[in-house]
Amino acid sequence: MVKINLGGCSSFVKDAEFKNYTLKALAAFDELQGEKGLGNDFLGWKTLPVDTPESLIKDCEAVRDDWKARGVDLVVVIGIGGSYLGARCAIEALSHQFLPAKDAPRVVFAGNNLSEDYLAELMDLAGMSNTACVVISKSGTTTEPAVAFRVVKEYIENTYGKQEASARIVAITDAVKGALKTLSAQEGYRTFVVPDNVGGRYSVLTPVGILPIVLAGFDIRAMLKGAADEREEVIRRSEDNPALLYAAMRNLLYSELGKKVEILVNFDPKFQYLGEWWKQLYGESEGKDLKGIFPASVNFTTDLHSMGQFIQEGDRVMFETTVKVEKARRSVVIGSDPQNLDQLNYLAGSHVEHCNQMAQLGTKLAHIDGGVPQIELSVEKIDEYNLGAIFYFFEFACGISAYLLGINPFNQPGVEAYKKNMFALLRKPGYEKQTEEILKRI
Ligand code: PA5
Repeated sequence: MVKINLGGCSSFVKDAEFKNYTLKALAAFDELQGEKGLGNDFLGWKTLPVDTPESLIKDCEAVRDDWKARGVDLVVVIGIGGSYLGARCAIEALSHQFLPAKDAPRVVFAGNNLSEDYLAELMDLAGMSNTACVVISKSGTTTEPAVAFRVVKEYIENTYGKQEASARIVAITDAVKGALKTLSAQEGYRTFVVPDNVGGRYSVLTPVGILPIVLAGFDIRAMLKGAADEREEVIRRSEDNPALLYAAMRNLLYSELGKKVEILVNFDPKFQYLGEWWKQLYGESEGKDLKGIFPASVNFTTDLHSMGQFIQEGDRVMFETTVKVEKARRSVVIGSDPQNLDQLNYLAGSHVEHCNQMAQLGTKLAHIDGGVPQIELSVEKIDEYNLGAIFYFFEFACGISAYLLGINPFNQPGVEAYKKNMFALLRKPGYEKQTEEILKRI
């Protein structure tokens, strides 16, 4: 479960001001729960933790078991944006950082960039492995995953034959329409559905996240339980609802104190991709109509040695939201050294995590002194249950926050602009006029 501590903001905001924003957040909460606000046809994510049928999980497990029987040891998950970041966030957080999983294939990601070297190197790995593929695209037409899928599909068909390929490729896409849906029907791929009423960045608890997480060997039931328990907490219409408090404080800092940048901070490299997932969720939901808090992320203590200087003393435009993990799952104790050349004997017998906690506290106090308000969110440990809770917490808080800001949290009109230019430059049929125009600009 996610707890919130706003003590690190108290020296920056007045109680009455915060009360005012809490009331605004309550009105936004009502808009979200009343389901009549902007983008209200994209609210399917709200009940996913309690609506997801056991049969869907069993279908994902059937793919896992079938691929295990085929000896699959590499799964390439193809997708971009909301069709990739949630699964990657969960799998990076839950996996051993150095060792392969004992009883699950390696899961790698493709189709989230257009780097030729990335894809070539990934195909080197595929060539050394027993490979299967999950291709994820709600629209079925996004260029990056489509390009990667063409390459991976061709490789799988050439390596295993067309019939076997149809068992080694699973598509997650729209229920009825789109190129990927049509291809899947033609080729006999197993398919899973991205619900119509769930946007990409809110889709981690649909098959988009569930299938890759199950394939990677993690406990999706525990994740859904964590999300369901968090849901109980954040759907309470109460001024101590942590999602409401988070939305209220970040909007106060933005609107009243000019804090235009929010930095999501972690002190564990396992949460690096939590920052990536969160940036899409908040950036794509709120960055519209010339408004929005710019979402950034850092990995501490690593980035204290790169970004720390700016955060401490640069332009005072930011606040920080730290996702704190209360307990390490493993134990490493610092030993004693008779020579003590590194002068670390004062730490002999201490857990490394104790140093990490003190680094967090020291950073928080230093950054408060430097004029950077601190929101602290905490979970007990990094596991499936708490990740489910974090996903739901941030999604729900994002809905409240965007409504408070007067923004539709569920559309993303701005992401089309680069695509139009790219298609024109690539001379996609149908873009002839735009090609002519864009060539005049360069
Ligand atoms: O949040 C979103 O809607 C986007 O990030 C999409 O998920 C992303 O552009 C991929 O789209 P698609 O799943 O249609 O390929």
